[in-house]
Amino acid sequence: MERLDLLYAHIDDHTVPQSETVEGFGALVAEGTVGLLGVSNQAVWRVERARALAAAAGLPGYEVLQYQHSLLRPRTDVPSDLFPDGSLGHAGAEMAGYLRAEPGLTLVACSPLLCGAYARPERLPADFDHPGVPARLAVLHEIARETGATPGQVVLAWQIGHELPVIPLAGASSVAQLEENLAAVDLELPPEQWARLDAAH
Ligand SMILES: NC(=O)c1ccc[n+]([C@@H]2O[C@H](COP(=O)([O-])OP(=O)(O)OC[C@H]3O[C@@H](n4cnc5c(N)ncnc54)[C@H](OP(=O)(O)O)[C@@H]3O)[C@@H](O)[C@H]2O)c1
Repeated sequence: MERLDLLYAHIDDHTVPQSETVEGFGALVAEGTVGLLGVSNQAVWRVERARALAAAAGLPGYEVLQYQHSLLRPRTDVPSDLFPDGSLGHAGAEMAGYLRAEPGLTLVACSPLLCGAYARPERLPADFDHPGVPARLAVLHEIARETGATPGQVVLAWQIGHELPVIPLAGASSVAQLEENLAAVDLELPPEQWARLDAAH
């Protein structure tokens, strides 16, 4: 390919000075190899620092943030090999505040369907084992019954119509799944259902 529309920095490498990454990414945009810059799986403070370095140098900064985001929220204190301090790859409260403060940013929500867990709950990862999950699932299933949509469609509609700029990056392994997921674009949730989904915790 001659040009990438969007290039993500996928994993933070603390051994490389951030200014080096910012300059390298900026050069790719300047030469036309890349359109937009994005970032994934980095602490919000690292994203903000990289964007500040880019702004100070007159270079383009990250505009697209790709993080795991869904209606169900994981515990953030469970360490992993990738994130010893607990999850950083999840768009939580800190990310929501950042998106509100910086209207030019867009959140691309990866794994919005939690890898199929809304249809097959046994797929929920261990860090979703906490009291907020059944509470949110109960409201989700109520609203799915009221709308005649599947729980997954309600989750996607909740993201698409979100007050924050969220683009779900959903996967599908069959045409039927793809069609079901695309139909969520036409599902409009009334404010009362929004409020119930947001309030459950
Ligand atoms: N930045 C990152 O670190 C990061 C992390 C994770 C993912 N991602 C990206 O996010 C994208 C999506 O990830 P994902 O595949 O995990 O997304 P997802 O939308 O959470 O899960 C997709 C899976 O859910 C199931 N599914 C989808 N539609 C369904 C439906 N209508 N009914 C029942 N089951 C359904 C399918 O599982 P089955 O195939 O088993 O049926 C499908 O493969 C990918 O491009 C991936 O690269 C990025």
